[in-house]
Amino acid sequence: MDRRRVLLGSVGLVGGVGCASSGTPSSAAHEGKTSANPAPSAATGYGAGLFPATFRARAAASPAAQGSWTVERVVAVRGETLPTPTSLDIVLEVAADPAALWSLSGVAGHARYVERAEKAPLDAASPKLGRPEASRGALIPIRKSAAWWSLPQDERRAIFEGRSKHIELSMPYLPRIARRLYQARDLGQPFDFLTWFEFAPEHEGAFDELLTTLRAREEWTFVEREVEIRVSRTA
Ligand code: HEM
Repeated sequence: MDRRRVLLGSVGLVGGVGCASSGTPSSAAHEGKTSANPAPSAATGYGAGLFPATFRARAAASPAAQGSWTVERVVAVRGETLPTPTSLDIVLEVAADPAALWSLSGVAGHARYVERAEKAPLDAASPKLGRPEASRGALIPIRKSAAWWSLPQDERRAIFEGRSKHIELSMPYLPRIARRLYQARDLGQPFDFLTWFEFAPEHEGAFDELLTTLRAREEWTFVEREVEIRVSRTA
């Protein structure tokens, strides 16, 4: 079997998916590694600590319509939407899939903004991906504006955390929400980030609340395209 094409999902997510990287693969717990799920770098050819992934959307008419996640809804939060698929699966590689309704790739890796004092509490509170009870998920691809990318790193950090408090406001939602952030901008993708979240159905309200909070902050004035794809694990 081609180890790069491991299908993630109901099997208990392998070190593959989840928003944020916050970088967050800095946390072993967040990486979701288990003995059954070896370090993705070994399976993908990417360097240690890098997590490539492609989210593949399937339409009902597709011969391979069965994905690991069933799509509940697609909402265009800002800018152009994406076509609504019936299912979503995730493979541990960066590879466009011409058979898919659409496919989006990214690589999770080191954190860009997390500071020393934030790292330990973040790592300690971040749950693994693939928890059996986390049967709901969200893929939220985001693109930020040219104005954002024209800023130097320190000014972006000042907006992201200094004024918008992205990390501080999100921390209380851990460990209910598991996440991983994939960077997609440098791959020439239509989005800069693919954010991935997993949570139990009873925590969906908390997730909605966090989205509302983050979207009201200064950081989000730089978001020019955002699509929310809500999913549940395919039985
Ligand atoms: C569940 C709780 C959450 C926590 C603890 C969290 C934490 C973080 C952290 C630490 C980073 C910085 C990564 C770095 O240093 O490179 C980050 C980045 C990011 N997060 Fe979150 N986050 C959460 C929820 C969310 C939600 C709900 C969204 C909305 C879709 C989101 C979207 C993003 C985006 C787009 C970035 C990249 C920002 C950039 O590099 O410009 N996060 N998050």
